[in-house]
Amino acid sequence: MADTPFAAPAFLPTPDSGGAPPVQGLHLTFGKDPGSQMVVSWLTDSPVKRPRVMYGTLEHGLGAGAEAQTRSYDDGKSGRTVYVHHAALSRLTPGTDYVYIVSHDGASPDSGMFRTAPRGRAPLTFTSFGDQSAPQVTWAADGTVALDANSTPATKDIVTGIEQVAPLFHLLNGDLCYANLDVDRVRTWNNFFTNNTRSARFRPWMPAAGNHEIEKANGPIGLGAYQTYFDLPSTETDAELAGLWYAFTAGSVRVIVLQNDDNCLQDGGDVYISGYSGGRQLAFLEKELRAARSSGDVDWVVVAMHQVMISSSDANGADLGLRQKYGPLFDKYGVDLVVCGHEHNYERSLAVRGVVSGSETLTPNPVSQATDSIDTSLGTVHMVLGGGGVSGTTNQSFFKDGTGKVITAVSATAGSNGKRTSTYVKEQAVWTGVRDLEHPYGFAAFTVDPGRHPGDTTTLHVTYYNVNKPHGELSVFEQFTLHRKRSDGPR
Ligand SMILES: [Fe+2]
Repeated sequence: MADTPFAAPAFLPTPDSGGAPPVQGLHLTFGKDPGSQMVVSWLTDSPVKRPRVMYGTLEHGLGAGAEAQTRSYDDGKSGRTVYVHHAALSRLTPGTDYVYIVSHDGASPDSGMFRTAPRGRAPLTFTSFGDQSAPQVTWAADGTVALDANSTPATKDIVTGIEQVAPLFHLLNGDLCYANLDVDRVRTWNNFFTNNTRSARFRPWMPAAGNHEIEKANGPIGLGAYQTYFDLPSTETDAELAGLWYAFTAGSVRVIVLQNDDNCLQDGGDVYISGYSGGRQLAFLEKELRAARSSGDVDWVVVAMHQVMISSSDANGADLGLRQKYGPLFDKYGVDLVVCGHEHNYERSLAVRGVVSGSETLTPNPVSQATDSIDTSLGTVHMVLGGGGVSGTTNQSFFKDGTGKVITAVSATAGSNGKRTSTYVKEQAVWTGVRDLEHPYGFAAFTVDPGRHPGDTTTLHVTYYNVNKPHGELSVFEQFTLHRKRSDGPR
């Protein structure tokens, strides 16, 4: 990289470009290789000229530049067009801090910093939650100001919480902002990014699309807005499916992100899209899992998705479609950890493998009763992290009699509410580990201890934080560890 001084003058507004829209919603996502690639993205409400990023290390300054590519979509409800500019930075140095400035002609520059992922077995921390919403302000008829119906103070406070932990990256497990429920979907998305940019400009927030990202009249399966806002490290060659599932490696952690509405039964979005990929997503999942488990560089296999395979809450319930399709693959390839959302509460499973013999609901089979120190080479731990800020919390809805409920079928057609009706079957929740009955909001932080030598034990230290009233103070609800043998020892 050229050793040049601060290059900000290139970004000063040009006098003849009046009316250029401001940079909004600056956010980061990893490229295919988080050690050397980062995508810098921002929004505008009209077209811009020469969207670009200058970047470099603290030591060497802003010596490198990248042009951004602009994607747009026409919101099928309002008719408005949204422009999102994505600049792919490459050839970065692993484990290194960078500064960057973004702009387009006529706009005041905006800026951020980030750290690239380390290579190999290095300590790192990531965080996760789902079901956030956007702190949208509405004006009632009497002139009072109120948060949007889906928002709570935690919608904002949880972002501050993530910044207090300052992870390398964050996994955002779907139902990002519930724009599909709002009068003005474009405004809601904008507020979502405005709320999160104070963290997402400093560290990648890696999303999984949930059922509330499915928007009527936006793209072939309703995920067109999501696919425009994020430029994700997808390997999918069908453009209509690009960015909906992807995988990346940070240190010794392989993260596989799924879009569950393809594989679940429940009708949770504006459009019912079950089976939309024609098996492409499952093929991707198996290929990724096989590669991860045969790699001597990957210890931890983490799946991030939205809907759940476990729930003992009388809310959505677990989904049999996911158990049928994902369960055998998670077992075969020894997935360590699944993080999800959808239920607006916190619950985690024991280590599970296989199903309880003869269970109609394919009840996950606990292989251990351990909750403090869990060997994930024996079974997968599922974590429901749906307390990301949205209203309608369900921590009061946990079954108290040791049962759970499972969606086992949906009706062939939609009812008067526009949704297919779910059929539920109760089961004994023999798999449940820990539930937070008291607090609605929180997130999990995961810190990798990579161990010291080939074949050593590696540990994932997990902390679940509550985000509390009145100002978002964090408190620790619980801490536990996952462990397994490193994959670089004798097989
Ligand atoms: Fe959901």
